[in-house]
Amino acid sequence: MKIVLIGYMGSGKSAIGKAVSNKLNYLFKDLDSEIEEKEEKKIAAIFSEKGEIYFRKQENEVLRSIISKEDHMVLSTGGGTPCYGTVMEYLGETENVVTVYLKASLDTLTERLFSEKEKRPLISHVESKENLQDFIRKHLFERSYIYNQADIIVAVDEKEVNEIVEELILKLF
Ligand code: S3P
Repeated sequence: MKIVLIGYMGSGKSAIGKAVSNKLNYLFKDLDSEIEEKEEKKIAAIFSEKGEIYFRKQENEVLRSIISKEDHMVLSTGGGTPCYGTVMEYLGETENVVTVYLKASLDTLTERLFSEKEKRPLISHVESKENLQDFIRKHLFERSYIYNQADIIVAVDEKEVNEIVEELILKLF
């Protein structure tokens, strides 16, 4: 099974992905890290030096290459991964792929992202918490339509990583 975690920035995709892969003894891959390795640059540098369109193209290619190579795996994607091109259709029609939306509320995302926005080029320029919340509200509204197409949805607010992992595994098997 290929478990693909999707969701907004700050929803915990990497932390939960690692924990689920440990529990199931599956390989763990983080899409942003794979792109950084391939490009030999941090995500913020790819955005500033080559632009977002270039990043989205790489993101799409690296995703498809990982999905076609690996078997039992947990893959944490970037917040925008399923929202560009035909990624969601591709994941939906690929055998053995299960998509999981880690759903976090606007308040949770604002709190988490305000303290770690620097490495995220889409929000690093936003100065106040109020402006960040406004940005996330609109952006999440645009993206939710895609996220909600996932096979499984797990609400993550106010839950420990372990709790989320247990809940997800129950829904998967
Ligand atoms: C992005 C999310 C980031 C990263 C890039 C763009 C997005 O990943 O891929 O900065 O479009 O939401 P995280 O969701 O891991 O922060």
